[in-house]
Amino acid sequence: MELERHTYDVVVVGAGGAGLRAAIAAHEAGARTAVVCKSLLGKAHTVMAEGGIAAAMANLYPEDNWQVHFRDTMRGGKMLNHWRMAQLHAQEAPDRVRELEDWGALFDRTPDGLISQRDFGGHRFARLAHVGDRTGLELIRTLQQRTVALGVDVFMECTVTRLLTDAEGITGAFGYWRESGRFVAWQAPSVVLATGGIGKAYKVTSNSWEYTGDGHSLALQAGAGLVNMEFVQFHPTGMVWPPSVRGILVTESVRGDGGVLRNSAGNRFMFDYIPDFFRKETAETEDEADRWYTDKKNNRRPPELLPRDEVARAINSEVKAGRGSPHGGVFLDIASRRPADYIRRRLPSMYHQFKELADVDITAEPMEVGPTCHYVMGGVEVDPDTAAARVPGLFAAGEVAGGMHGSNRLGGNSLSDLLVFGRRAGAAAAEHAEKRAGLVELAEQALADARTAALAPFEREGGENPYAVQSDLQQTMQELVGIIRTAPELERALERIAVLRRRVAALSVEGHRQYNPGWHLALDLPHVLLVSECIARAALAREESRGGHTRDDFPATDPEWGHITLVCTRAADGGVTLSRQPLPQMPPELAEIFAEAP
Ligand code: FUM
Repeated sequence: MELERHTYDVVVVGAGGAGLRAAIAAHEAGARTAVVCKSLLGKAHTVMAEGGIAAAMANLYPEDNWQVHFRDTMRGGKMLNHWRMAQLHAQEAPDRVRELEDWGALFDRTPDGLISQRDFGGHRFARLAHVGDRTGLELIRTLQQRTVALGVDVFMECTVTRLLTDAEGITGAFGYWRESGRFVAWQAPSVVLATGGIGKAYKVTSNSWEYTGDGHSLALQAGAGLVNMEFVQFHPTGMVWPPSVRGILVTESVRGDGGVLRNSAGNRFMFDYIPDFFRKETAETEDEADRWYTDKKNNRRPPELLPRDEVARAINSEVKAGRGSPHGGVFLDIASRRPADYIRRRLPSMYHQFKELADVDITAEPMEVGPTCHYVMGGVEVDPDTAAARVPGLFAAGEVAGGMHGSNRLGGNSLSDLLVFGRRAGAAAAEHAEKRAGLVELAEQALADARTAALAPFEREGGENPYAVQSDLQQTMQELVGIIRTAPELERALERIAVLRRRVAALSVEGHRQYNPGWHLALDLPHVLLVSECIARAALAREESRGGHTRDDFPATDPEWGHITLVCTRAADGGVTLSRQPLPQMPPELAEIFAEAP
């Protein structure tokens, strides 16, 4: 068969922040390294982490340290995080930020010349190192420049459709060039998955077309486990109008820098959703409450900076109660709270985004915003120190890996996560490759099977159009597996997913292999469907509400469930098997950090 072949020590799938950081680490450890990405280099969901990188650098608040960041992260994740990942993340994030600066990232500064840090939800101190509201973009620019300068090979617009394994673990990967449709295989003892998330399972999302859960699905099919799949993050603020831009992210920095949320009556409704332990009972007016809650000296935070799951649920409730904005969101107002030049300086992308896409001047009028699917907390089960999955030679970092964020991620923790664990994954993958040098080989039959599977949609006649199937799947997930869930709805979703599975197996595409987006989608759909099944199954099993999983029929958080992780593995029929696993126990010296009141 006509097949382009390559041999590497480490193949990194995905070129967002985690992939690039892993590639740099693998290369620096002496591994022959390649990066394979579905899209153009530099185009990654990492850029949607606009507001900053969370790291306890203590530039603004000397009392900040890794222990406080660790505690915020665990509490934000409602204690379901893997404690060791949260510990490593909090300890190593400041070094990863300083390293980025050494490599040329240009952070905003404090008047004293230190890296500036801004407020974000759930973080006790202002700790997000930022570059205006384009932090993810600067991070990618810096890592991309370094990756290219080091001479790492990059395969752009190239999609991996299968991981290849033998009895000992990973042997490589198989894929195709999107432009020519020609097949390509990489022989390598180590593969690092850094494919990002699953946003395209939903209709309203901040994710772009690439995010179809490929890495989650490839790992599952290769024998790895997926943890915490029931936890999907709906970022509270996406654009809602006009329809063509629905879901595009409106950074949390707008709230971090003073923006407030109002309903159709003009009320600052987040005051009504403050947890009891933090509520001020005696405020007479909105201004009085505002002064009390924004008293930084006493470590207070405005209610708009509660963790994302809580703000998204509050917006959802306001809209359901008939107090929404004209296009089904709520109002986000920074214009009445900050001067125009401050807004343009701190939030230049938001200013342009609304001006160009919605004809709204955010320095003069409020924005209409509503929840948008932004991130999946669930992902490949990995060893915290090495990012290794259950399958020898397979590693995962960034959004595709699970455990770090528990049931809800704090804003800004994704950029630090991908730097910390991207580096660890790359280093461990290089080490594994060294041990397996000369011992892996691609099996010809496996390559032939991968090719046959990829070409199958061309062989079928009269099958379904992939775009119709994608639209029905997104509708199902949006309606039945969204922010608020119930057992009957989740059961209906699973029934529909079973039907969609049959429809996906019968997809057919026309034309030929040269740049054929219909074919590309037909190859993505089995991934997004498998991942959707994991989300729905885990959501049905978890009979409580916690973080990014709210059950209307089980509204309370159940302490029993606080010790359980749900793990998805591949069933013999190609579907999903769900099992329960005890959450690893935190050592006493870390548990002590939680002695202080919430
Ligand atoms: O709102 C934001 O800027 C997104 C940040 C994040 O997801 O970490």
